[in-house]
Amino acid sequence: VVVDDLPGDYELGGYCDYMAKEIAEQPEAAQRVLRGRLDERLGTARLDGLRFTARELRAIRRVKFLGCGSAYYAGQVGAELVETLARVPADAEPAAEFRYRNPVVDPHCLYVAVSQSGETADTLATVEELRRKGGRVVGAVNVVGSAIARECDSGVFLHAGPEISVASTKAFTNMTLSFALLALTLGRVRDLSLGEGRRIAAALAALPGLIGQVLDGEDRIATLAGRFADAEHVFFLGRVRGWPVAREGAQKLKEISYVHAEAYQSSELKHGPLALVDAAMPSVVLVPGDELTAKNTGTIEQIKARGGPVVAVTTTDLVLPRADEVVRIPSAGPELDPILLTIPLQLLAYHVACKLGRDIDKPRNLAKSVTVE
Ligand code: G6P
Repeated sequence: VVVDDLPGDYELGGYCDYMAKEIAEQPEAAQRVLRGRLDERLGTARLDGLRFTARELRAIRRVKFLGCGSAYYAGQVGAELVETLARVPADAEPAAEFRYRNPVVDPHCLYVAVSQSGETADTLATVEELRRKGGRVVGAVNVVGSAIARECDSGVFLHAGPEISVASTKAFTNMTLSFALLALTLGRVRDLSLGEGRRIAAALAALPGLIGQVLDGEDRIATLAGRFADAEHVFFLGRVRGWPVAREGAQKLKEISYVHAEAYQSSELKHGPLALVDAAMPSVVLVPGDELTAKNTGTIEQIKARGGPVVAVTTTDLVLPRADEVVRIPSAGPELDPILLTIPLQLLAYHVACKLGRDIDKPRNLAKSVTVE
């Protein structure tokens, strides 16, 4: 485990810590990952760094995202985007699991190695193993010139800028944005129509501004954080698009506040975890504005019926009467809502950790970059 020294040329500039600075930088960082890569007229994206021809893109039959920690959860968001927009089967797997289970390497699969630092040992070893077996592996990496960036055949740089805080924020967001660009590109060489492609491209172009609007609601979330600072356990619940967001939200709360948080698919609640729900265990329920809203409101009702406090984080108005608290954020459309829903969860984890007096940028036992096993 490596403990990083902070580079002298990246200043805090008035913020209390790097995590606050990096959360606030997200609108700009999002602009950078999109810049020059969206074609709103043709309703598609251009990822020149991938170096794939249209024919090669069409030949991809599966996409697999591989990474560790938040990079893995970002990959899960990416897999959902690829399946939705391109109708290409896609999934995400922790890189360390993949490399040790003697995976079947599929020559028609596009493997995407996801890493902020580009130095995570397990992700790097996964790339090497894939290349040895003839797999086509591209990087989604933030640090230019890093080991993973060099080892991959080609890739997409995340352009998030330096990220110092151990908990990933702007790099996570830019990972998910780059996967939206990949999904759009793959979709438009398949069956995604020009009209739909234009809708997604326009929504992506508007996303940095919407992230800014979510950040404007920080004071409200800081107040809400009081509800969580006394909790011993917190549930984060979501389904389908909301599920990787729930996982990332639980991870953030755990890693910087040390409050025990568990993410569950809300569809699994009644098969066991509902037994834990009581007045002392708050739940954060993710409600994107998609076709599952009725199911998500059902989840809120199930928890309320057992006396559990509920905070709904949503892009729709429909859950307003049922939850104890609602964090309503703007919508980017159902496909892209997961990217926006992550932002309030970053703020929530941050403010809970502040209230508990934690060392925000350097949580105990963790390192920014795990370069040994
Ligand atoms: C460490 C960090 C996490 C990060 C993970 C992967 O565990 O604490 O925040 O998500 O490594 O890092 P990478 O640089 O590969 O994205």
